[in-house]
Amino acid sequence: MTKLWAGRFAKPTDALLDDFQSSIPFDQRLLRCDVTGSIAHATMLGEQGIISDEDAEKIVAGLKEILAQYDAGQLEIDMGAEDVHMFVEALLTERIGDAGKRLHTGRSRNDQVALDVRMYAREACTTVKGLLLKLLNLLADLAEDHSQTIMAGYTHLQKAQPVTLGFHLMAYFQMFKRDVVRFEHAFEAADVMPLGSGALAGTTYPLNRARVAEILDFSEVTDNAMDGVSDRDFLLDFLSAASILMMHLSRFCEELILWSSTEFGTAIMDDGFATGSSIMPQKKNPDACELTRGKTGRVYGDLMGLLTVMKGLPLAYNKDMQEDKEAFFDAYDTIVKCLPTFTEMLRTTNFRKDKLYESAGLGFTNATDLADYLVGKGVPFRDAHHVSGSLVGKCVRENRALVDLTLDELKAAHPAFEEDIYTAISLESCVNRRKLIGGPAPETVLNSIRRSRVWLAAHE
Ligand code: ARG
Repeated sequence: MTKLWAGRFAKPTDALLDDFQSSIPFDQRLLRCDVTGSIAHATMLGEQGIISDEDAEKIVAGLKEILAQYDAGQLEIDMGAEDVHMFVEALLTERIGDAGKRLHTGRSRNDQVALDVRMYAREACTTVKGLLLKLLNLLADLAEDHSQTIMAGYTHLQKAQPVTLGFHLMAYFQMFKRDVVRFEHAFEAADVMPLGSGALAGTTYPLNRARVAEILDFSEVTDNAMDGVSDRDFLLDFLSAASILMMHLSRFCEELILWSSTEFGTAIMDDGFATGSSIMPQKKNPDACELTRGKTGRVYGDLMGLLTVMKGLPLAYNKDMQEDKEAFFDAYDTIVKCLPTFTEMLRTTNFRKDKLYESAGLGFTNATDLADYLVGKGVPFRDAHHVSGSLVGKCVRENRALVDLTLDELKAAHPAFEEDIYTAISLESCVNRRKLIGGPAPETVLNSIRRSRVWLAAHE
């Protein structure tokens, strides 16, 4: 195919460079956005009298036909084309003749590619948000089911205080909820229409930029042509949101991997979401979690890659920026695979209430409550902490739990202990009494779930 810009050149591009610079292998997925954007541009050109109505109609009809063929899987993409924009324009001109050559009036590939990627990024944000909402709904449901499922909470991966599984799951709810907000922000960042920026300095044609924004449902138009063609912040917003989301997924995966181990044994993954070993017949591996944890690295890489591509670029457009797409698509594709797999894996995982409870009773998770009990009897917290610590030390030496100590033994450590200590340090009371906002008490968590469902309904 002759290059649309061949006029200035005395000989064809070297095959090596052709191959090196072509983006069509990866930017062909922008075709839908490219054609839709061109239809809007041509419509506006016709309305403004910049091209004739007849040419505008021909262009729009030709583009619609290309899109219909593409959607039907009947469009053969020319892999020799430089990029998707050149491919569509050349194909259109081949089909409708001279009118096709007028499509690019008042436009540059620099603002065209910015438009296409912004349109694609908006769709990507909406898709990811939809997937996140599914996960959030599941988390709210599971948390409700497990609002009374007592388990050990950890710090330093050492047993800390009793919580509930519902409370633990709602901690993830908060993280993924913030992820939704981040993707909403990434959507807004992408939702600015750059066409009319031209190559870098706008154009002399009387374009109606607001009209193009209206046709393509953009909230606003870019305010500076140089920025319009140079800005890839919106992709970095997407990639940052993607990286943080993957980090959250990865932490959750790490916990599920731990919980599935024989040592914890508190989560049993469904057979449909675990894999076996080719040599060890007993194995049931949490591959979905491991892979998600692993893929977090590539999404971070996508973010760092694009940040690095952008850091030294002088204004305005530079071809380096063509590298934005693979990073963006890779992160997007990774999330689109990870989220539904993770959600279904979580939905089908069975949490062992008995083991969670048993495990919560080990490791002195009620030692804080024992100290708090003394504080309730008027003992200063520091002294109470010391008494509790010495009782824990005694129990460790004697291989007992705090609830196994007799009242005499407790009184020997501090005279303020009474019979009611045993209910005060039961796992149930440790959890139920933490009913302040943000606490693990079942009623508090159920309230939080209620508020969360209202939030979900407002963000669907
Ligand atoms: N394929 C290019 C990209 O993805 C399109 C813009 C090319 N513009 C240019 N002036 N060469 O960035």
